[in-house]
Amino acid sequence: MKIGIVGAGRLGSAFGLYATRRGAEEVGYYSRTQASTVAAASLVGDVGRVYTDVASLIRESDWIVLTVPDDEIPEVVQKLAEEGDVEGKLVFHMSGAASSEVLLPMKQIGAHTASLHPLQSFADGCSGADKLETTVFGIEGEVAAVSVLEEWLTAAKNRYFIITATQKPLYHAAAAVVSNGLTGVVDFALHLMAAAGIEEKTALSALLPLIEGTVQNIQEKGVAEALTGPIARGDIGTIVRHTEAIAGQAPQLLENYQMLGRLTLATACQSQLRDPKRIARLQELLSE
Ligand SMILES: NC(=O)c1ccc[n+]([C@@H]2O[C@H](COP(=O)([O-])OP(=O)(O)OC[C@H]3O[C@@H](n4cnc5c(N)ncnc54)[C@H](OP(=O)(O)O)[C@@H]3O)[C@@H](O)[C@H]2O)c1
Repeated sequence: MKIGIVGAGRLGSAFGLYATRRGAEEVGYYSRTQASTVAAASLVGDVGRVYTDVASLIRESDWIVLTVPDDEIPEVVQKLAEEGDVEGKLVFHMSGAASSEVLLPMKQIGAHTASLHPLQSFADGCSGADKLETTVFGIEGEVAAVSVLEEWLTAAKNRYFIITATQKPLYHAAAAVVSNGLTGVVDFALHLMAAAGIEEKTALSALLPLIEGTVQNIQEKGVAEALTGPIARGDIGTIVRHTEAIAGQAPQLLENYQMLGRLTLATACQSQLRDPKRIARLQELLSE
């Protein structure tokens, strides 16, 4: 199978290398700049190919993969639809936010269209290809296209689930909350540490094992039972000490502390925290 990738960035490079490891016969790239195109094609070794025009990439490829930034997809789709014959070819993009509907101009001229979203964060081609081995994918699109991708992912031993275009924004919001939201929460914790006089490097190296332990608890026990800490225990005195200290020493952080506390309280109330009086007092302390 020959794969043509438009957009030789982080995910494009990672996916091309992963597809090479999974036996792709050829992985060709077309990108905005020659430097990115050459770098990504070199990464995949002998099967790599550099394209300087999209018409050749379309002609030579069985699969056409779009890994350009989300905002660029409509323009690139238009260009591809105008410059090549995509009839019978599989065309998909890898955005989590957009559905395959954005590929309509290509579907109208006979392409089988889908979106294939990896639930992972990719910083570069090499580490990204390693991560793809255990990545779970969300697939959405035309039945014919989805079934080809299902078959490929099954052979590659990747887990996946199929979603609809309507489900995709909520699905992607969940992925963004977990990945980007966690990063924001860690940054927030570092600000609290800084307010306590603990410098960032020391704080981060202390917090990372705690994050790993928490992820392990979630894996082993599920979300509701994995929750530990003062809110799950209903330790009102501890939350009073937190809010008073933050209000006194870092008042700019209080609102976010309370917002995260309310999220935690909702989880605690699912199974661990049952006392209505404690819940009401915690709600009061965690209200803005
Ligand atoms: N990275 C992730 O963690 C991740 C995870 C899941 C999904 N995705 C999805 O993957 C897609 C790409 O994201 P990314 O993070 O890989 O972005 P990226 O690193 O910025 O790469 C995008 C590439 O597209 C090229 N490009 C931009 N405009 C173009 C155009 N008009 N024509 C041809 N090439 C163009 C850029 O080319 P030059 O380098 O040549 O300028 C760049 O190499 C997005 O849809 C994103 O939502 C990314």
